[in-house]
Amino acid sequence: MASLQLIGVRKSFGTTPVLDDVSLALESREFVAFLGPSGSGKSTLLRIIAGLERADAGEVWLEGRRIDPLPPGDRGVAMVFQHYALYPHMSVRENMAFGLRNARVAADEIERRIAAAAQVLEIDPLLDRKPGQLSGGQRQRVAIGRALVKEPKLFLLDEPLSNLDAALRLRTRVELAQLKQRVDAAVIMVTHDQAEAMTLADRIVVMNDRRIQQVGPPMEIYSRPANVFVAQFVGSPAMTLMPAELANGKGVLATLKLGGNSLVETRVPRAILPDGDGLRIGLRPEAVRVGSRGKSTIKAKVELVERLGERTLIYARLAEGQPITGEDHGDSSVTIGDEVSLQIDGATAHIFGADGAGYHRAQT
Ligand SMILES: Nc1ncnc2c1ncn2[C@@H]1O[C@H](COP(=O)(O)OP(=O)(O)OP(=O)(O)O)[C@@H](O)[C@H]1O
Ligand SMILES: [Mg+2]
Repeated sequence: MASLQLIGVRKSFGTTPVLDDVSLALESREFVAFLGPSGSGKSTLLRIIAGLERADAGEVWLEGRRIDPLPPGDRGVAMVFQHYALYPHMSVRENMAFGLRNARVAADEIERRIAAAAQVLEIDPLLDRKPGQLSGGQRQRVAIGRALVKEPKLFLLDEPLSNLDAALRLRTRVELAQLKQRVDAAVIMVTHDQAEAMTLADRIVVMNDRRIQQVGPPMEIYSRPANVFVAQFVGSPAMTLMPAELANGKGVLATLKLGGNSLVETRVPRAILPDGDGLRIGLRPEAVRVGSRGKSTIKAKVELVERLGERTLIYARLAEGQPITGEDHGDSSVTIGDEVSLQIDGATAHIFGADGAGYHRAQT
């Protein structure tokens, strides 16, 4: 049975539509990340699931029960907010107990749940401290603990790591990954941060323009983006997109002609491509390497060099002005202003139709 099911959810604020026909089903105990740019409706969708916002249309089901008519407290859902706030005058223990007392949970049951949550989150030694006596990461864990003690069927985490510094963010990310193993609930986590989504989630839901653009396991989102938006939003630096033409030929796999007449043999089946013009080729930086071997090479002028240690990113421009991002090995001698040859690896190239839909190599 699906854990959470959204059916045709719509929402407008005044005359501004924010969510348009959003449908989604989560497996039980699945960890799903909502990834999308600011304003794409991620928090709004979470708030609709939690019952803090009413959808204009659509249904929300949790473990076989329709919950959208129910008040938030009866839904079996717990939410950790984007801007969570702990009660400063209460101890950690009291912060965690507060919601349960309001829900008239028995005192010994509250104790049991707090002890269990504190153990999972490793905050036992902190239970009698006030929030002001905790580090940012510890406070974050308490905020998660406050949700955990409700023993929800579904956790909603809205950017739970966004107000942590980089090192702490990484550590808390590992903790969240461990938490996922230990709790018996599905989790939806909203994030801007694709590395976070890629490492934590069983599946990623990419949102933009009021709609779900793609749902899939992290590597599928990366290697088989459904459309131009997903292709450019996921992956850093962004995939290069440039105009291309289908070359004549009878092969099963499509060969593309780029500006400057270089040919790129892709692994995308010719038969799945749409008819007509307006094709674009999509190349991840790792598919564009400095070098002049092979037949798929193009000349470019280097505009920026980014040394990352183990590899060097090369931001360049082709003669006709088209920008292209490629890479070289860590101790690259390429500098700004150089004319370089770039070798294109057609095996991992993507093709996009005029309408933006993505076409990829056959799955092995
Ligand atoms: N209460 C509200 N009244 C009017 N407009 C709202 C309200 N809440 C959100 N919006 C608008 O709805 C859109 C979606 O907002 P939402 O907070 O869901 O985005 P988000 O994807 O969570 O963004 P972020 O990544 O910045 O948190 C935005 O354009 C926002 O301005
Ligand atoms: Mg938000």
